[in-house]
Amino acid sequence: MPCPFLGSLNQTFVRNYGATLLKQYGSYCPVVSRGFRTLGSDETKCPFIQNNGPIISEAPKEMTEDIHDVPVVAPYQYDNFFHDQITAKKNDYSYRVFKKVSRLAADGLYPWALEGSEHRKVVVWCSNDYLGASRHPFVKNAAISAIKSYGTGAGGTRNIAGNSQMTEKLEAEIAKIHKKPAALIFSSCFVANDATLSTLAKILPGCIVYSDAGNHASMIHGIRNSRAQKHIFRHNDPSHLKELLAASPTGVPKLVVFETVHSMSGAICPLEEMCNIAHEYGALTFVDEVHAVGLYGKHGAGIAEERGIQNSIDIVSGTLGKAFGSVGGYIAGSSLLVDTVRSLAPGFIFTTALPPPVLAASLAAIRLLAGEEGRALRAKHQAIVRYLKLSLLIAGLPQLPSVSHIVPVPIKGADKVAQVADSLMKRGHYVQSINHPTVARGEERLRFAPGPYHTPEMIDGLIAALIEAFHENNIPFNEFMKNGTCRECRMEYKMDISYSEESRWSPPLMGIHNARRVLGRNRISDEEENGVVEVGVDHRNSHALKERNIERRYFTSVFCESVASYQSRRLIVLLQPN
Ligand SMILES: Cc1ncc(COP(=O)(O)O)c(C=O)c1O
Repeated sequence: MPCPFLGSLNQTFVRNYGATLLKQYGSYCPVVSRGFRTLGSDETKCPFIQNNGPIISEAPKEMTEDIHDVPVVAPYQYDNFFHDQITAKKNDYSYRVFKKVSRLAADGLYPWALEGSEHRKVVVWCSNDYLGASRHPFVKNAAISAIKSYGTGAGGTRNIAGNSQMTEKLEAEIAKIHKKPAALIFSSCFVANDATLSTLAKILPGCIVYSDAGNHASMIHGIRNSRAQKHIFRHNDPSHLKELLAASPTGVPKLVVFETVHSMSGAICPLEEMCNIAHEYGALTFVDEVHAVGLYGKHGAGIAEERGIQNSIDIVSGTLGKAFGSVGGYIAGSSLLVDTVRSLAPGFIFTTALPPPVLAASLAAIRLLAGEEGRALRAKHQAIVRYLKLSLLIAGLPQLPSVSHIVPVPIKGADKVAQVADSLMKRGHYVQSINHPTVARGEERLRFAPGPYHTPEMIDGLIAALIEAFHENNIPFNEFMKNGTCRECRMEYKMDISYSEESRWSPPLMGIHNARRVLGRNRISDEEENGVVEVGVDHRNSHALKERNIERRYFTSVFCESVASYQSRRLIVLLQPN
């Protein structure tokens, strides 16, 4: 009699899994269960075993393995792993504790914030909302009315319900300021850089990427994700770029990738030279203007606009999250290139589009900063930046040679820089300590980003607090001057102020407050105060030093670097012996 159980199964299945079936279900079978007890003598009674005995004995090992008892291994200890990771971060002081700071946006309250659980008021020195666009009434109202009309969310990807008239208007506005035929917006500029570079470098056949050593993580990720061949050139070094490109094969697609204003040092790249070299070797230029858009150029389009060389850039990327005061990122370039990224970049395709209030606020901010008010804000911004640099110099505090609005104060050691930041916070000044991985170990710093709404009085307060914080944490610093006196020759200095209209480094607000503070007497007339712009350097032994001819020994070496590297512009303070 055939077995009613096995007979209902597919014969191939029975052949393959015979051993498993026998082991799992044998004890339920009236014949086999008896047979188990006397297997050997009674097995012939089982019609299945009778017919399939040899097959069972030959069943492959893999078929039976899964029913063997597995030795008990303790489950993976995920928490132990994460604990070790965090401990390592804490041990090298790079563990990040976010400060609680709610930046205030009501009229007159920018750049103040409420800090900690007691909601103490502090001045914010490290926001990338560089010109206060996020709290400008024009920008806020645009966001509010967009919410009223269109709600808070985009409702989908650009392809599915997320593409509004405003989305396209914003892209058109971005294309216009950058003088490009097309633009494309992304959820952030990290995504814009990553998605664009990974897509282009992947699809361009045999593409070779030339990447600046100082590039932001977003570009590094994009290049890495493309798996394209890459070469790294020394930061802002056109001759190294040229050397690498000269050794490259001709007729192969190439991308040269770099930033204009460096996010952490404030250096500005030799844009024209780098673009010319790239084009000489048939490469496309991808230039990140994230820390320049809104801040430089007549319409706030960045360093390329300021230098009148927007055509040199093939693909420009920018953010809506810093000077434009909102969130989001973009690229602008030729229509075909932008359409290619739009059609192929997963980071663009598979994500929800930017929401109406963000689109409206960004559009308003770009228009605001492209106009007269934007130009006035930029001039004031540069003036206050220069005032801070000058104040640091006079106080003898260290600063890295920045030629932009970013003012880095180096304090070596992640622990030390965090302690100084805490000391400043106690004194009502919030600046974030910057450590690894944002900068290399040993290059820790405080990164100041003063804006047009910071006042000279606030800067004076900051400088006093910084000096106290350095002392409190036993950090020595070489004082270039002390109380208005040169520490080398003990000569008392005064500030002399001349006027120059032509450069953006000459806005009408400079040095007065500090000059008065240093001099301790009222030597500057109100008339001069309104027109003060340019400050240079002089010394008794070096009669009327001019730009590019500044006597180095009276500056800290890093500061000299900055003076020397920023050739075309006149710089800072005129210090004369009394
Ligand atoms: C140079 C640079 N590029 C890109 C980004 C990314 O911009 P977003 O904040 O819009 O993602 C940043 C952010 O800090 C940056 O510093």
